[in-house]
Amino acid sequence: MAATTMDPDVRSPFAAPRLTDKHGRAITDLRVSVTDRCNYKCVYCRTGTEGAQYSELPIADYLRMVRVFVSLGIEKIRLTGGEPLLRKGLIEMIAALAEMRTAFAADGTRLSPGMGQPLDIALTTNGHLLEGLAQPLKGAGLDRITVSMDAIDREKFSRITRVPDSFGRVLAGVRSAKRVGLNPVKINCVLLRGFNEDQIVEFAKFSREEGVIVRFIEFMPLEEDRVWTPEVVVRLEEILAALNTFQPVVPLAPNIASETALRYTFQDGLGEIGIIAPVSHPFCGHCSRVRLTSDGKLRTCLFSQSDHDLYGVLRRGGDDADLAEFIRRTVDRKEARHHIGEPDFLKPSRSMVHIGG
Ligand code: 5AD
Repeated sequence: MAATTMDPDVRSPFAAPRLTDKHGRAITDLRVSVTDRCNYKCVYCRTGTEGAQYSELPIADYLRMVRVFVSLGIEKIRLTGGEPLLRKGLIEMIAALAEMRTAFAADGTRLSPGMGQPLDIALTTNGHLLEGLAQPLKGAGLDRITVSMDAIDREKFSRITRVPDSFGRVLAGVRSAKRVGLNPVKINCVLLRGFNEDQIVEFAKFSREEGVIVRFIEFMPLEEDRVWTPEVVVRLEEILAALNTFQPVVPLAPNIASETALRYTFQDGLGEIGIIAPVSHPFCGHCSRVRLTSDGKLRTCLFSQSDHDLYGVLRRGGDDADLAEFIRRTVDRKEARHHIGEPDFLKPSRSMVHIGG
């Protein structure tokens, strides 16, 4: 039988058995934040006040930790921030990640189920610096890219990012990414009531005109300011209703079991929309993700109340076996689910810009 990402018994020939948690979920997806600096101050994320403090590790240290994760069966790496394109050495880092892929592929033993290649390398960016970097990113071995865009209307875009003329730059970045073949280009749009729910149909048209996948994300309580309330969240059903005013929406089958987005197209088959609904339709039961923060802490859930200092193990002189043991032990205790909207919900110990998307 073909192995699937949901089959925790699949063994990596490099360091078996592969990563699972005590709830039986296979952990195959690692997000690495390479800086917590950002050149935008999106209203739903940052306070907008200047914080001079930021934390970054040497690229070689991220790579060392990532290599151990890959040896434990991680199949997808997503680089995030902050804004990852601000990070010096990013292109070289991607080239080194791509080399890990080649090394594993040459061995021929551990092909990622369903991916068609052993290590999928993706990146999430605000797109501001993307136009000139798309080609070097692709050249270094990046597979796919996700660009955050929260409005199509230019003025609204600037009001959200708090950076003038940002829309034109991001649009040029998206087009450049498409041109160099960073496919599929995905657009992430976080919806906030009173800010941008009037943009839903505009984004539907954008998906069709630009040939990109637009994904609407329900707003989660991860911001630096405390602006989240259940009322601000624009929920799945409401997004679908808005899309249906444009053209009847048709559901698409999921690509993989751990996919976070529900996928849709329109009756004429043009355009692709994803809806990520962690608030109204949580998908924790098939979560396959863990995160490494820019300061080298392992986080097992966006909403964790604590971090696990993987970098501390490295700094104290731990070898790869020590790192692997620490990762295994920490991942095993991954939270069953988040508690957004429940009376016992506690805000996570860090905000999104410090966790990495
Ligand atoms: N809720 C939902 N999505 C968020 N993002 C940032 N903050 C939040 C939040 N509070 C999105 C960004 C980016 C991705 C990494 O996460 O827009 O696209």
